[in-house]
Amino acid sequence: MNRTAGFIHAWAPGKSTRTLLLLHGTGGTENDLLPLGRALDPEANLLSPRGRILENGMPRFFRRLAEGIFDEEDLIRRAHELADFIAQAAKKYSFDQKQLFAIGYSNGANIASALLLLRPGTLAGAALLRAMVPLVPETLPDLQGAPVLIAEGNHDPIVSLEEAHALAALLRKAGAKVTGHFEDAGHGLTAETAAAAGRWLAAHAASRNGAD
Ligand code: MLT
Repeated sequence: MNRTAGFIHAWAPGKSTRTLLLLHGTGGTENDLLPLGRALDPEANLLSPRGRILENGMPRFFRRLAEGIFDEEDLIRRAHELADFIAQAAKKYSFDQKQLFAIGYSNGANIASALLLLRPGTLAGAALLRAMVPLVPETLPDLQGAPVLIAEGNHDPIVSLEEAHALAALLRKAGAKVTGHFEDAGHGLTAETAAAAGRWLAAHAASRNGAD
């Protein structure tokens, strides 16, 4: 277990110059998405922080007032904290943020979207698995063709299809290159979601990696 800028995290070095930022869902830890990250990109470095908020003992990346209703002030503060942590970790572990792709699930996907919207330049791209609109910033960032995957379940009781499409529209408006993946699933991750994320990552992360 490591600690940088107050975040408990896991760091698993890889053999390439790519790094995956793994962001767990509510109640998860830094260990949850390590197997998925390794399966998605066997060569990448893996950086996996644990959310610092506790909701009834369950780690999250920011506070919510109720299911799907976010504490926006806290969300903004936590997104900046996480962005600062990532910048410090990039120095400490010597990885290139231009080749840093987030893989976020549920609450982790929502903080990844907040990073894109509030701290552009932190991530090269993001796979948002079962994601919602985290907030609508007053000024949209310029995401300059940053690749984003939005992978949703058609029967997700937490994320409606309207919400998923609203997120895609928001990120497209900011200039991101959004790929949508919709499957017959609920909120949980499936093998099909992982396969879609793997295809997306291979297509987009590899093209940004001139070094290997
Ligand atoms: C969750 O359970 O994590 C929610 O669906 C998403 C969130 O609160 O960010």
